Amino acid sequence: MKGALLVVLGCLSLASAYGDIAAKHFEMDIHQFESDPAAVFAAWAAHNGKTVAAQDLQARLPIFVSNVAGQISRLGLKEGAMEVNGLADISREEFKQTHLGHVSKSLFTELGVGKHRKEPFRYENVPLPRAVDWRSKGIVGPVKNQHVNGSACGCCWAFATTGVTECIVAMYTGQPIALSEQQLIDCDRAGPWYDLGCDGGDFQGGIEYITENGGIDTEADYPYLAEDAKCEFKKEGKSPRDATLDGFMHVPARNETALAQAVSQHPVAVAVCCGDNIDNWHQYTGGIFEIPNTDIPGGCTDPLDHAVVVVGYDTTEEGQDYWLIKNSWSTTWGEQGFFKVRRNVGAPLAAFGLATQPGYPVKKGVNSKADPIRTDIWDSQAGSTQAVLVS
Ligand SMILES: *[C@@H]1O[C@H](CO)[C@@H](O)[C@H](O)[C@H]1NC(C)=O
Ligand SMILES: *[C@@H]1O[C@H](CO)[C@@H](O)[C@H](O)[C@H]1NC(C)=O
Repeated sequence: MKGALLVVLGCLSLASAYGDIAAKHFEMDIHQFESDPAAVFAAWAAHNGKTVAAQDLQARLPIFVSNVAGQISRLGLKEGAMEVNGLADISREEFKQTHLGHVSKSLFTELGVGKHRKEPFRYENVPLPRAVDWRSKGIVGPVKNQHVNGSACGCCWAFATTGVTECIVAMYTGQPIALSEQQLIDCDRAGPWYDLGCDGGDFQGGIEYITENGGIDTEADYPYLAEDAKCEFKKEGKSPRDATLDGFMHVPARNETALAQAVSQHPVAVAVCCGDNIDNWHQYTGGIFEIPNTDIPGGCTDPLDHAVVVVGYDTTEEGQDYWLIKNSWSTTWGEQGFFKVRRNVGAPLAAFGLATQPGYPVKKGVNSKADPIRTDIWDSQAGSTQAVLVS
């Protein structure tokens, strides 16, 4: 039921073409929070469309208070207004358990699977446009929420897999599409690329699964349950004809220029490390993500623990380069579910390690070897609505 709802909402937000940033974060007054946190919590819940049952209130209010107090202190604020995102009612531990879950299979490449892994980087000679934003081309699927109904499913890897696959399929068909994470959670369990459902996984594995399986179902046909379930072969057999892939490819690691070249051709999945900056991730409301630990190359020492989809890049008027990235923590997090991090930071692994193992699905006909490189599908003005996606 909820899965169906998710898709309907997804389609609505697609229809508004991402231009509508009207849904804002809850904004609260710090004095009011200090004098009457319960009232602020109630207003926050109403703003985010959450109904908190009386028995949950006792558990959730102290968590909310602790998160918001932590955010006030982290930002060094004394008074005035502060934005609070939609994740303020879960603890840091719950956040870790329910929102992360990328397991890096560093051995994976050594296993010798992956159809295109020996091919050289295809975009080495692509001139870099000033800015890219794939949302303006109508190919980026809906922002989703891996944390539905408070259940803990560490399947960001499945959302990164569908996230990037939705874009590649839409570039091929010209139609936006929402694809099934649940199928990956339930069915991507065998083969050398196997993943671990709600216990974590890797988008390379997800993409290999879709390739070998002959496609992936839509979100509507195989809805998200936010838990490990039995693979439903009947549903699995209903893949739309076009939702097939032809393999996985890496973008050269440790190279933000190469990543930008790939992103100029199509969205790219990346793994990031959130661990060292967990509260910043938990509480992020927008803007270019600050990386507090600038002494640590890439900003964290932790392993890669989250997977997301880079959908563009740009430079601010002040000259700061950033990546534009799609997350799977609902539209109540970040900038309508998207976030920005600093680009060209001078550290080989880039901010949050995002240049460690970028990769993308290959689909024949979309930037395949037979195709000319598709510099026709964007222009240098981010925000252009011109969409020449299908030749
Ligand atoms: C990064 O990639 C670019 C373009 O793909 C290439 O020209 C350059 O040599 C690479 N840099 C490093 C350090 O490998
Ligand atoms: C979420 O909760 C609603 C209402 O209880 C239920 O109908 C739906 O199936 C649940 N969805 C998920 C993904 O757990």
